[in-house]
Amino acid sequence: MESNEIKKIIPFDDIWENLNILEKRLLEVSSSSNDYLTSISQYLINAGGKRFRPIVTSLAGKFGNEIENISKIIDAGVCVELIHIGSLYHDDVMDNATTRRGVESSNSKWNSTLSILAGDYLLARSSELAAESLGLESVKLLASTYAELVEGQTKELNLAFDSNQKIEDYLTVIEGKTASLIRTSARLGSVASSADSEIVDALSNWGWNCGIIFQISDDILDLTSDSETLGKPAGNDLLEGTYTLPVLIALNKDKGKYQEILTEIKENKIDVKNVLNEFTTKEVIDDSKEIINGYLNDSIEAIFTLKNHELFPVLENINNYLINRTN
Ligand code: IPE
Ligand code: IPE
Ligand code: MG
Ligand code: MG
Repeated sequence: MESNEIKKIIPFDDIWENLNILEKRLLEVSSSSNDYLTSISQYLINAGGKRFRPIVTSLAGKFGNEIENISKIIDAGVCVELIHIGSLYHDDVMDNATTRRGVESSNSKWNSTLSILAGDYLLARSSELAAESLGLESVKLLASTYAELVEGQTKELNLAFDSNQKIEDYLTVIEGKTASLIRTSARLGSVASSADSEIVDALSNWGWNCGIIFQISDDILDLTSDSETLGKPAGNDLLEGTYTLPVLIALNKDKGKYQEILTEIKENKIDVKNVLNEFTTKEVIDDSKEIINGYLNDSIEAIFTLKNHELFPVLENINNYLINRTN
């Protein structure tokens, strides 16, 4: 999913102008007096990415007084994107990833230690900016969100290679590692715009469901797409023992068969590429889609009080789009 594709469903030029300002801010805020650190920390910023979280922040910023608060709204987007990118540096270490955003991953290009430091640096700069620009409540929210993200990532590692884990376990993982930050992106944008508290809560709830849809779609794509399209290694979840929704659904359908395949992957007896299609049968994907559609309905219900707002169809279309890209 490139920004270009998402541009079509967000027909507001100012959102894209805000994003240009955000690009400059990302580089300003992540510059260090140590050039070596700057080059590593800005490597993934420069590699691109969809900027999905700041897009959510900017959209949520349209629900209050956007004009008066535009620089705060943009800074809120910078804060969430820096946390996101910081977590990508760390995630690629934990997932032994070799590529990210279409380029060699930082852990592969440099090493794990430098990647962890670069991630830490971006997280620290995010907190600093939040304190300067957004205030104590937002600093606290970003800190607790990052704690949730780490809890999700840790639970994923706890469950690695566990073919007896429940779908509920998987959902707790993705709520923490992904939905928490997308929810916070919506909340911070609307808070920065001084939107009413009911609107802030509605958008946060939308963001939470959007985040779950986002991660389930990403997990389906890991099985159905190719590394070049994704810009990151396809099939890596199975190799790392991260058993995502389609895998758990497949296990529920035929435990013996799928446990055997998973063991063969773990013991390097088969090439993961040759068995990906076992996890993407029509019945597995249909069941995954049914679960996603539950979150789609919840996301629409969350913002039902905003149904007359010009952005209501955009928020609805974003989630539809996330789902449709797995087709
Ligand atoms: C990747 O996030 C990590 C997940 C939560 C799946 P994105 O898909 O938003 O990655 P970028 O920012 O576009 O590179
Ligand atoms: C996404 O992790 C969540 C975070 C980065 C915190 P994943 O491991 O599922 O995402 P990709 O597939 O590497 O982007
Ligand atoms: Mg990963
Ligand atoms: Mg991961």
